[in-house]
Formats: sequence, C-alpha cells, structure tokens
Amino acid sequence: MKEKIITADGSFSYYDSTINECYHSKNGAYSESTHVYINNGLNYWFEKNKKKICRIFELGYGTGLNALLAKRYAEKNKLKVVYHTIDKFPLTANQIEVIKPRKLSTSDNFVYSAAWDSEFSLTSFFSIHKIHADFFIYQFDNTYDIFFYDAFAFHAQPQIWKKNILKKSIDVLNNNGVWVTYCSKGIVRRAVESFDVKVEKIPGFSRKREMLRALKK
Ligand SMILES: C[S@@+](CC[C@H](N)C(=O)[O-])C[C@H]1O[C@@H](n2cnc3c(N)ncnc32)[C@H](O)[C@@H]1O
Repeated sequence: MKEKIITADGSFSYYDSTINECYHSKNGAYSESTHVYINNGLNYWFEKNKKKICRIFELGYGTGLNALLAKRYAEKNKLKVVYHTIDKFPLTANQIEVIKPRKLSTSDNFVYSAAWDSEFSLTSFFSIHKIHADFFIYQFDNTYDIFFYDAFAFHAQPQIWKKNILKKSIDVLNNNGVWVTYCSKGIVRRAVESFDVKVEKIPGFSRKREMLRALKK
C-alpha cells in the first residue's frame, strides 16, 4: 500500500507500508535528490571532467524525481545527458500524476509520460530510457559515467546491497566514473571499498551524517 507524503521542503513522495519505507527522506525529497545525486554526483562529475556528454544509469526510477532534476541540470549546464533508469515495480500513471511536481515544462512532463523500454530524446540535452526490469538479472549493454544507486534502504531490501549486486553497478562505470548513494552503512562501504574504486564518505542530507561516493580509477 502506497501513501502520498508531503516532505519537509514541500515536495511529494511515497511511503510504502508493505516494506515500511519511503521513496525519499521525509526531510525533503527534492532537497535530498539535489544533495545526493545532483550536487554530489552529476555536478561533481561535470566539474571534474568538463565533458560534453554524460551517460547516467539509475537503479530505481521510482517517482522520476532524480531523472527530472538531472534533465534540468543538463539544460542549465548545456551538458548532453543520456539517462538510463531501471525499475522492477514502476508506479502507475495515476500514482505518478498525484506526486509529480506542479510546475513542469512540456519536455519535463515527458520524463513522466515517456513509455518504458524505448529511448526518447526530450530536448537536445536530455534523452531518457526507462527500463522495466529486475536489476538482479538485468544484463548491461552499455557503460556509464555516473551510477545513481537509489535502491530502497538496507532494512527494507538487504539483498540489493549485497556485494555481487553492488559490483555489477561498479563494473559498468567508465574510468573516472562516479557512483553515488544516500546510504552510508559500514557493510555497504566495505563491500564497495573492495572494488577498484576510491570510496569517499561525504556529508549526507539533513540529519544523515554521511553518504557514499566512489570514484572509478
Ligand atoms: C528509493 S526508490 C527510488 C527513488 C527514485 N530514484 C526517485 O527519484 O523517486 C527505489 C526504487 O527501486 C525499485 N526497485 C526495487 N527493487 C528493484 C529491482 N530488483 N530492480 C529494479 N528496481 C527495483 C523500486 O520499485 C523503487 O521504485
């Protein structure tokens, strides 16, 4: 059972009572996505690499908020972003309708309305491919510059934080690629540290002391 919630910054998200878990921090969905994935992921990569094209893979399309914010970043910074995102349990069109941000441009709206399992160019700076599949068995046929690891929290979905699944997400990163998550659990950090990456603990969103970022060598 999914219940709409209004988070502390006024942005909407869902609480899923079957797993006792929210899609975002109650302290602010918009602010959390901006802090973790846009500022410490996409902007960090762009400042370091100054390339013209960036390929992003997201685990967990969810409400589409990270995708929307990545699109807006791409347009603002004139960076071409190719955004691939996977979800095994997509929200329905009605569930999306009631929680998507109120002020959306026509091309913003396509982030939500784009059909699954095809690639769409929404603007000259942003394309999206929403993959309806299970990450556990998904086989990559691309590599990426950034990986947004936005699965449900460890207590709700421990299997997705296992070493072999984490490795899958690191293996598809290009050199100098950036992997980010809101999670800072020791067991997850140690697993990621065992791969060929440099792991950083950086300040998390709101009351979370830390989040993780890994840089592919
Ligand atoms: C924390 S939410 C993602 C929030 C999202 N990034 C956003 O901006 O709204 C986690 C998502 O992972 C998806 N998920 C759970 N298990 C999965 C799996 N095995 N493969 C792919 N997606 C999965 C859920 O359906 C859920 O939408």
